[in-house]
Amino acid sequence: WADGREGQVSATIEPEIGWVQEGLDHLATLVDPSLPGWSRTGFSVQDVEGRHWVAQQMRAAGLSTHVDAVGNVIGTFEGTAPAAPAIVVGSHSDTVPGGGRFDGIVGVLGAIEVARALRRTGTRLTHELRIVDFANEEGNPQGVKLVGSRAIAGTLGHDHLQATDEGGVSLADLISRAGHSPEKVHTCRWDRAGLAAYLELHIEQGPVLERNGAGIGVVTRVCGISTFHLDVHGRRDHAGTTPMDTRSDAMCCGAAAVLAVQRIAAAGSDTVGTVGALTTTSPLTNVISNFARVTGEFRSPHMAGLRALAEELEADIPRLDAAHRTTSSLSWGHTDPPAVMDRHLSDVVVGAAATVGHEAVRLYSGATHDSVQMSQLAPAGMIFVPSAGGRSHCPEEWTELTDIERGVRVLIQAVLDVDTG
Ligand code: GLV
Ligand code: MN
Ligand code: MN
Ligand code: MN
Repeated sequence: WADGREGQVSATIEPEIGWVQEGLDHLATLVDPSLPGWSRTGFSVQDVEGRHWVAQQMRAAGLSTHVDAVGNVIGTFEGTAPAAPAIVVGSHSDTVPGGGRFDGIVGVLGAIEVARALRRTGTRLTHELRIVDFANEEGNPQGVKLVGSRAIAGTLGHDHLQATDEGGVSLADLISRAGHSPEKVHTCRWDRAGLAAYLELHIEQGPVLERNGAGIGVVTRVCGISTFHLDVHGRRDHAGTTPMDTRSDAMCCGAAAVLAVQRIAAAGSDTVGTVGALTTTSPLTNVISNFARVTGEFRSPHMAGLRALAEELEADIPRLDAAHRTTSSLSWGHTDPPAVMDRHLSDVVVGAAATVGHEAVRLYSGATHDSVQMSQLAPAGMIFVPSAGGRSHCPEEWTELTDIERGVRVLIQAVLDVDTG
């Protein structure tokens, strides 16, 4: 123990939850008024302003800050042993369009509150404490999620940066326009040798904790995701004169594919599938669509599950084409494999929860997180707090302040336990 901890080894450090509340309230004002809910999408004006504020809060907490080439905001608090690897704590402050006030934000504010609490109590860690507000976790119109943590893990490739939105704007353009330097992405990469552990506090975003009356969750693994699009080619014909049984209607085949995704995912255990868009180039009611695109994703806790979902969809396509006299081609986008959270670190978090008086429930995360990327660099662990009604990625997303307080308390204790462990 360093100086400030002497004589208070068994005492726990209390978060100042009023500050976290003020942070939630402040970030809730930095939102795009043209979008529903609390929208601060990655690299938007509001996101740049929000992360500027986050950096200020880190500095006020005594951290030295640095913004890397893709916009990750990084704050460091030196440990007493300069050679000891860093304990990293982070999450994201961007949101999905039409999202809520808690997803990611609780983890960023919670991480800063760890630093504030250490400072308040004069506690020095042996290890460096490194806090990150990861850039653009939620993805973008270019279809790339976990942008900042990918850059840190060294997995943000040329293909990601050159991916474009429908207007031809690349991810690299989007990042540059926010004032960063994506051409220097290689400088964002961290060396795993310098890292002891990664911890992330997050709202659950699902119903498990609430259903079980549990206040704290410790994540076992995080979903893998495979994205795809199905291009359906039909024949353009007159909608009034072409008999129903001779049509080659791309829209109808696309609609059948949407339901196939639902059926296939529902048949698996712990698997989900979602179509986000069914689009056509001929959105007219008096013309039969000669083209439709179905854009979707599958998620599973296991790689084998993802593979099985993909195989079933592939096997379904010829049947759909035969039924609709269409020709379809299925393209797979990126597959992010499921990530396993570190068993030992998770045990430390369960122990930390017990120390501050809470029993933790272990659970799987069907939402993805920056921890997926960080687990490639360091043992990673996640602390979940309940989401009211299991709702998330919607304006109704809600977590009680007492639940957040409990999560921050466990996070502080977990950092202390990792430091001494
Ligand atoms: C992001 O929150 C995701 O799970 O896609
Ligand atoms: Mn999140
Ligand atoms: Mn999210
Ligand atoms: Mn997410």
